[in-house]
Amino acid sequence: MPNAYISGTGFYVPPRVVTNDDLRTQYGIDTTHEWIVQRTGIEERRFADEGVGPADLGALAAEKAIANAGIDKTDLDMIIFATLSPEHCFPGSGVYMQRKLGLCEGTNAKFVPALDVRNQCSGFLYALATASSMVKAGALKHVLVVGAEVHSAALDLSTRGRNIASLFGDGAGAVVVSATEEDRGVRHWKLGADGRFADVLAQRVWDTRKRPFIPVDAAGIGHVEPEMMWAQMEGKLVFKNAVERMMTVLMEACIANNITGADIDLFCFHQANLRINQYIQNALGIPDEKIVHNIQRYGNTTAATIPILLAEAVESGKLKRGMKVACCAFGSGFTWGAAVIDW
Ligand code: UT7
Repeated sequence: MPNAYISGTGFYVPPRVVTNDDLRTQYGIDTTHEWIVQRTGIEERRFADEGVGPADLGALAAEKAIANAGIDKTDLDMIIFATLSPEHCFPGSGVYMQRKLGLCEGTNAKFVPALDVRNQCSGFLYALATASSMVKAGALKHVLVVGAEVHSAALDLSTRGRNIASLFGDGAGAVVVSATEEDRGVRHWKLGADGRFADVLAQRVWDTRKRPFIPVDAAGIGHVEPEMMWAQMEGKLVFKNAVERMMTVLMEACIANNITGADIDLFCFHQANLRINQYIQNALGIPDEKIVHNIQRYGNTTAATIPILLAEAVESGKLKRGMKVACCAFGSGFTWGAAVIDW
């Protein structure tokens, strides 16, 4: 049986920087830089321009990951695309990115499968678990795993929406998961979900239990109420559960790998709130040099946070061959996950 290792990483964030002060001055949100930094650690985020979707950002991150893996894009056997902000209700972003990458063109087009994963902030780890399991089973040799989000299109950028609008940013990260006979790669992963909290952090812009799925007026034009249009979150409840679940799943993954936290060389946590991660870091006694963050610069990029962290750590030389990496995430659903990777 082969192992499944990460052969290449890449990331892309849109060039437009939106600072906390910009939220106030450009969008008129009643907030302050101090409030956002104190509560979340976020200093700025990136917003994509109109006309740019997650498949566009994902394709740019993917090109880099494929190049860094030293393979050709025609070597890919599958695409897994994790996002909570797909271009459309359907089809998924994976097929748009496949087309964008030029994988459906030419006589060598392989028409590889494209799977979308809808597990929000845990999406990348759900996708990584799926990809590595397929590679380890011997079914596939190279799987492209992308996490990409364009949140800025669906943020209520007004004072009404400030509790959520100040948290999120756009971006994409990608990895190639490849088969190897070497003793390295994705080791044990652990995933979980608790549907009792499904409505605690959600954007329910359409509801297919209703007839029709959004209300229409006499002229047949659909109207969406603000509470349906924008994401809703019970922040304190999410915060508390994030701390508990991330700590637990991280320890479960370590136990399953027969290691302790001290054996881990680098921790890559989901970037929802710097305070959540610092709480876990302090509770588990993780030294500063063993953990990476980017929420200060990008905000919460949901499914993209972990692959961006990995790609940045590789690029800066902080993550090197032979190191043991632990990733963990928590988000809407609730869903959570952790993975240990021998790099
Ligand atoms: O990736 C998905 C997972 N998401 C998370 O993990 C997020 C977890 N939750 C959190 O990080 C925190 O709950 C937040 C940072 C979102 C909010 O912090 P909080 O301490 O829970 O604040 P709060 O929502 O209880 O709001 C406190 C006050 C409210 O005002 P009143 O009602 O006390 O007058 C809010 O209206 O702060 C107000 N507020 C703001 N003020 C200035 C909320 N957002 C803002 C803002 N600027 N951006």
